[in-house]
Amino acid sequence: MNKNIAVFASGRGSNFLAIAKEIKKGKLKCSLLFLICDNPRAGVINKAKKMGIKVILESNETRIAEHIKREKINLIILAGFMRILSKEFIRKHQNRIINIHPSLLPSFKGKWGIKYAFDYGVRVTGVTVHFVDELIDHGPIILQDTVKINTNDTIHSLEERIHRIEHRIYPKAIKLFLEGKLSLKGRKVKISN
Ligand code: GRF
Repeated sequence: MNKNIAVFASGRGSNFLAIAKEIKKGKLKCSLLFLICDNPRAGVINKAKKMGIKVILESNETRIAEHIKREKINLIILAGFMRILSKEFIRKHQNRIINIHPSLLPSFKGKWGIKYAFDYGVRVTGVTVHFVDELIDHGPIILQDTVKINTNDTIHSLEERIHRIEHRIYPKAIKLFLEGKLSLKGRKVKISN
């Protein structure tokens, strides 16, 4: 049976769109039941509407949890969701929430991962998809990919490359979850074939 997923986003929604497109193409076998958005001005709202996906404009966690329960959501996908979820919410949905972060964790946690890496001057940064635990940008790592920083890069050219990788790696991680290929041993994620 198809698993039910929900995406939580607050901004532009390029990751949301990449995921929704993979589902539409039949490459990700699941039902994307709704988008939770806490920002009425977010670009992601129109993207969801265009794709025919239900938008729930909500920032109240208790009500969000009700939607998750009612629609029997198996996987919560954070894609630029700028709200910190409570410990209770995370515990309740343990190992069913994943996040994407635009750096090679544990380096450059926080809101501006791309900029922190660029300003620091690292030669290699990247993208991380991880399970969400009670600490910020900390949970068990599912997939990572690297992105080289060239001397002629600007923050914008770097951002563009990072996003391109994100749009590839996030659907890949979701697919592994949906196919039941991820298992956890402590903070290590095992990927089976
Ligand atoms: C992405 O860079 C993601 O890694 C971070 O927030 C950004 C969201 O971008 N968590 P978008 O809204 O999906 O375009």
